[in-house]
Amino acid sequence: MGPAVSSARLRVGVIGAGAMGASHVQTIARWVPAAEVTAVYDSDRARAEQVAVGVGADAVESADDLIGSPGVDAVVIASPDPLHAEQVLACVAAGRPVLCEKPLASDVEGSRRIVSADDDFASRHGRHLVQVGFMRRYDPAYVALREHVAAGRIGTPRVVHCVHRNAVSHTSNTSELIVTGSMVHELDIVPWLLDDPVRAITVYGASGFSQSTGLPARTAATTCSACTESCDAITTASTAGSPISAWASS
Ligand SMILES: NC(=O)c1ccc[n+]([C@@H]2O[C@H](COP(=O)([O-])OP(=O)(O)OC[C@H]3O[C@@H](n4cnc5c(N)ncnc54)[C@H](O)[C@@H]3O)[C@@H](O)[C@H]2O)c1
Repeated sequence: MGPAVSSARLRVGVIGAGAMGASHVQTIARWVPAAEVTAVYDSDRARAEQVAVGVGADAVESADDLIGSPGVDAVVIASPDPLHAEQVLACVAAGRPVLCEKPLASDVEGSRRIVSADDDFASRHGRHLVQVGFMRRYDPAYVALREHVAAGRIGTPRVVHCVHRNAVSHTSNTSELIVTGSMVHELDIVPWLLDDPVRAITVYGASGFSQSTGLPARTAATTCSACTESCDAITTASTAGSPISAWASS
């Protein structure tokens, strides 16, 4: 069991001190008076020290040391995707509340293990520990959009087209990462926007080269939301830099 969270400042440990981890550290230090970063772990020791020193935190030796530290009340995981599942499970086993960057896990099995462990903890202690870093629900623009949809100001949504407007897709990107890294945001936000769960998913792949950028085109992913007897709303997702059409029907 981790220490009880008191009314004192929440002591946060951050695993992974890359772009997102460093951003979380800065956000907590600058904008969250009720919390402080006390520990940072990164497999790149110099990187951990660089990020930790700026906020008076310790750079620790391992993820396990951080999760088990009596000086850490809660954990943020911003390590590479394939590490998330085991690190989240270690947090749950230690009774540590954890905010994990998306994706929660790289595969279905990892996600199921986490949900099962978190539900088991909740059945014994009355609270869940795991949250995924789906930040769009807290974005004022998304909140306003949801209010417009709920009020019926745009009529009944039939198609939601989502595009990640990155200037280019990173060359290390893969078809799988389009789903687990980008489209996963749509899987969270579209049911929330429409107040309607995803009923079916179809993924179409595409390959070749973008005519506009000359870069390899990425797979477009398509979710079909709210299909019951007929298709009520279709969600499409694709990446910028990839002139790919994505459509679903049912
Ligand atoms: N919410 C969002 O919109 C959003 C945006 C970008 C990235 N992300 C997610 O955030 C996570 C981090 O992405 P990033 O862009 O910061 O990547 P990054 O490559 O900038 O940083 C990853 C860091 O993890 C470190 N690392 C590698 N192996 C490690 C290990 N075994 N233990 C601890 N740290 C280790 C690396 O040294 C690096 O500093 C990813 O899971 C990514 O999918 C989320």
